[in-house]
Amino acid sequence: MRVLGSAAGGGLPQWNCGGPNSLRARAGDLELPARNQPSITISAGDGRWSLINASPDLRQQFASFAGLHPKPGTRALPLDKVVLTNADLDHVLGLLIMREALDYRIVSSAWIRDALLQHNAVFRLMASIFNVVQLGEPFELDAAGRLEAQFFPTPGKAPTWVQALVANAPESTLGLRVTERASGRRLVYAPGIQTYDDALITELEAADVRFVDGTFFQDDELSKLRPGAPDARAMGHLPIGGEAGSLARLGELPGRTFYIHINNTNPILDARSEEATLLRRAGVGVAQDGLEVEL
Ligand code: MLT
Ligand code: MN
Repeated sequence: MRVLGSAAGGGLPQWNCGGPNSLRARAGDLELPARNQPSITISAGDGRWSLINASPDLRQQFASFAGLHPKPGTRALPLDKVVLTNADLDHVLGLLIMREALDYRIVSSAWIRDALLQHNAVFRLMASIFNVVQLGEPFELDAAGRLEAQFFPTPGKAPTWVQALVANAPESTLGLRVTERASGRRLVYAPGIQTYDDALITELEAADVRFVDGTFFQDDELSKLRPGAPDARAMGHLPIGGEAGSLARLGELPGRTFYIHINNTNPILDARSEEATLLRRAGVGVAQDGLEVEL
């Protein structure tokens, strides 16, 4: 598994942001390297890959990862599937960058497909390659069938752009479980978690490696920079810090844990911050662009 983008929507620096992290990243501060918007890619080790979410930075993400380059002299990409865990713009705008060839498949829930296709004519370019699966229904992540995947619901909210048009449902915000069939080892990817319920903890606990929502450290991080902005929970992201925060739940789990989908306001982006130190003490990592993890 390789991290193509570890930041949340907007990336680091974000174009309209003058917050301290964006300022430092823009100035080339080596402690805060630029980060792409959220996407990961997974391979069974046979040179073929599937993407989890299609970020607006996909063009650069393809360019900078040789594993996803076309075979010389062809237009054949070693790409099997593009799996969508929600319909947020930072997870789907990259689909429009992949419109020149449709020899891959998109996999999502019916809710996510319908939100995209029924309300945005431009996404209908991809209608023929959408595959819908139910929550908990196993599907093959790779063409060879070495990796089995399934969606589980994570408490969340409908994307801002479609909130007025479609009612939220458990199928709107998903986590993805990927199991290597030969070894039974599991990776879980869950970039949007509004609350941790028992079912979610059980799912996370059973994974050998998990990448989870690390959007905000504090609830009011965004409104400090942009007065009137919603808090983290209202945006569908439980903050990391505090007694009720996600770190208190995750520090206990066996295996390896990484925060991902990190907003440009989050102090953990600076490895020397107090907040980053707390994570290290709890044994929880911070995903970086280019990080590779083997199951
Ligand atoms: C999120 O992760 O909460 C969304 O990408 C934010 C948004 O809707 O802009
Ligand atoms: Mn997002």
